[in-house]
Amino acid sequence: MRDSTGTGLILGIESSCDETAAAVVRGGSEALSNVVASQMSLHANYGGVVPELASREHLRNIVLVMREAMSQAGVGFDDLDAIAVTEGPGLAGALLVGITYAKALSYGLGKPLIGVNHLEGHIHAVLMEARQRAISQGSQALTPMELPLLALVVSGGHTHLYLARQSGEAAWSYRNVGRTVDDAAGEAYDKVAKLLGLGYPGGPWIDALAVRGNPRAVSFHFGQIKPRPHREGVSFPNKKAPAASTGPSFDFSFSGIKTAVLRYVETHQMRERIEVRRAALAADATLKPGSEAVVGLCDAETLDLIASFQHAVVGNLLRQTFAAAETFGARGVVVSGGVAANRELRRRFQSEADRRGLPVAFPSLELSTDNAAMIAAAAWPKFVAGDFAAEDLGATPQLRLGQV
Ligand code: KG4
Ligand code: ZN
Repeated sequence: MRDSTGTGLILGIESSCDETAAAVVRGGSEALSNVVASQMSLHANYGGVVPELASREHLRNIVLVMREAMSQAGVGFDDLDAIAVTEGPGLAGALLVGITYAKALSYGLGKPLIGVNHLEGHIHAVLMEARQRAISQGSQALTPMELPLLALVVSGGHTHLYLARQSGEAAWSYRNVGRTVDDAAGEAYDKVAKLLGLGYPGGPWIDALAVRGNPRAVSFHFGQIKPRPHREGVSFPNKKAPAASTGPSFDFSFSGIKTAVLRYVETHQMRERIEVRRAALAADATLKPGSEAVVGLCDAETLDLIASFQHAVVGNLLRQTFAAAETFGARGVVVSGGVAANRELRRRFQSEADRRGLPVAFPSLELSTDNAAMIAAAAWPKFVAGDFAAEDLGATPQLRLGQV
């Protein structure tokens, strides 16, 4: 195990999807810089991320982004203790740009390389800020929240529930207790926004417009998902172990609600109105999601549909997360990933957590979406444990986190 009392400066690099990011983080908690070059406007023209374009943009941006992160942090390469990089999950070509660059840097500088799972990074975005708050209040606690934690990672590519614990200062372990069986929640936001003629990515558009509609106007239902068999030896502190075929399932499915919105659009003859809105937004790229001009492009029925969709999705995320937290005896809940930026989600999770007397934490908006500070923060316990990547570290597009 390494001496963790040094400066602990880690340069994090993230390139798993459509953001090229680099950050310098001290001791897993203090971000000295956090630079993100987003490709969002490039992919917006196609209504989704185009993998080949993403790789090309990462190649263009990575050196500049990394230099900017070092310069904002005010540190030199010699000051770094390690280089951390996202090894998966993500787009193969995009991941490879970050990995190749990090490997070259690690080799050239003679500094250790640490591979980080992107999903673990999202969880550590929350922990890092919680630790920073605790430190500023004078706490010396290793972990800012009581363990185990139930973590919901909810983004454009993932909707996962993990039971997270830590032994000592290092070695976090995760158990994947729920996941989507089809679309991710963010993907449902993006697809529904696209269907309704709104911009990309869809989350911020739906978030901004949902407050203008009636969330109870259209009722959407989530069916029961067949439970997966649970591993032997798993403990259920608050409940009897559920039988494989009859116990609760903490999995998600979002393809049904997407189809239900499509059916609603068709049965309510909304197509023409959608095309008018799509054309108006295409003609003026300066229009912002919550602006009066955009609200003016949406009739009451559309606003009600948007509000009802969001209400149903957030309700489903909330029910599954708190049910899993209760079943597995979690002492706190963390929510992270792009969809964690959603205002209704934050409000309803906070009030449910308060009702149950359970702490809940979210990342700042800056750290909700993809960034490299979370990668450097997740690398810190690995650095302390001396858990370094081999020279042949490669991209693992389907990389899983923890045991099932
Ligand atoms: O974590 P992220 O930046 O990238 C992935 O790893 O996927 O998440 C992007 C996703 C997109 O699907 C986007 O629509 C969604 O997060 N998102 C939101 C909001 N902001 C971003 N969804 C709901 N409400 C938001 N305010
Ligand atoms: Zn992400």
